[in-house]
Amino acid sequence: MKARKIVDGVQWMGVIDWDRRLFDALIPLPDGTSYNAYLVQGSEKTALLDTVDPETWPLLERQLENVPRLDYVVIQHAEQDHSGSLPMVLERYPEAVVLTHKKCQTILETHLEFPHERIRAVEDGDSVDLGGKTLQFHYVPWVHWPDTMATFLPEDGILFSCDFFGSHWADSELFAGEKHEVMDAAKRYFAEIMMPFKPQIRKHLETVKELNPKMIAPSHGPVFDRAAFIRDAWDEWVNASPKNSVLLLYVSMHGSTEAMARILVEELADRGVRVRQIELTQADLGKIAAELVDAGTILIGTPTVVSGPHPFALNAAALANLLKPKAMFAGIFGSMGWGGKVVQKLAAALPDFKGELLEPVLCKGLPDAEAAGKLAELAETIATKHREAGLGE
Ligand code: FEO
Repeated sequence: MKARKIVDGVQWMGVIDWDRRLFDALIPLPDGTSYNAYLVQGSEKTALLDTVDPETWPLLERQLENVPRLDYVVIQHAEQDHSGSLPMVLERYPEAVVLTHKKCQTILETHLEFPHERIRAVEDGDSVDLGGKTLQFHYVPWVHWPDTMATFLPEDGILFSCDFFGSHWADSELFAGEKHEVMDAAKRYFAEIMMPFKPQIRKHLETVKELNPKMIAPSHGPVFDRAAFIRDAWDEWVNASPKNSVLLLYVSMHGSTEAMARILVEELADRGVRVRQIELTQADLGKIAAELVDAGTILIGTPTVVSGPHPFALNAAALANLLKPKAMFAGIFGSMGWGGKVVQKLAAALPDFKGELLEPVLCKGLPDAEAAGKLAELAETIATKHREAGLGE
């Protein structure tokens, strides 16, 4: 992909990685991703904002063929998908100075080999004049590392936000417009990477509202040419109450736990509670994460294996614990052959869950009438608690 103009003096550079399928050895990328760098050219000086994953450096190098001089390389975040090509950029431009926050400086120095004396640390609120183009630096830690800063270009109203507002979405179109598929990818990205940092992001969203950018140019995915489209979505994901919905995650070995899941779905639906049911052996981690953004209650269903939960159920509990969703209630259900410690072991995998753990429902073998009654009671409890908490659509 060639470099592309965003406005006069500002170009997108970078790489569309259509075929990447896994990030951080954890996050599935069904739609690929991009590593976005941006070139800002003033009347006096030129700056490159971020670089690209080092494996894709030759593609950025080709885009830089028409850039004879770089005064600054702004590194907004030290993770390698953005900083990894910095040594190559500095070798190509021996005059270039690295501008980065001091938190990022420390991480860069421990992860990358390059002449560290070429770094000039900047603080929150500092700015650099390129000649008619000003780069204002805003420290936005914990989106999702402690080092990150965003850069505002007031003359054009563009906020270069790094991972903040990103999406793992490969697209030949530069701008997101208001495409729902980009929004779906952005929600998934928020859920997988940013959801644990809601308190910090809440504060940064206020900064973004004050800056009131026209465009938001993240380091992954398309540029949001209608900034409010993505800003308002993040505002809802971070600040709105969870919804009157249940995320039901289950695994079943011989059909009994699955039968319990079916009863629960029917009983909840009868009471006006929306359910998203996901079977865990074939589950997409990103889809689970995205559903966790809004769920009012998380239910995990598991058979007893040896004396505890199925490992897939434990894995789902660990994921829910890690991502710190807004859910106010959680519950455990499942079937066993003769006994075990499913509830204790599954609950122990949720040490950071701050909501209420509901009375579990366990049965031996297939759910009989008594078990069906208990599942109906659990559904009634959930519907009542959602109503009392004011959870809506
Ligand atoms: Fe896209 Fe945190 O790196």
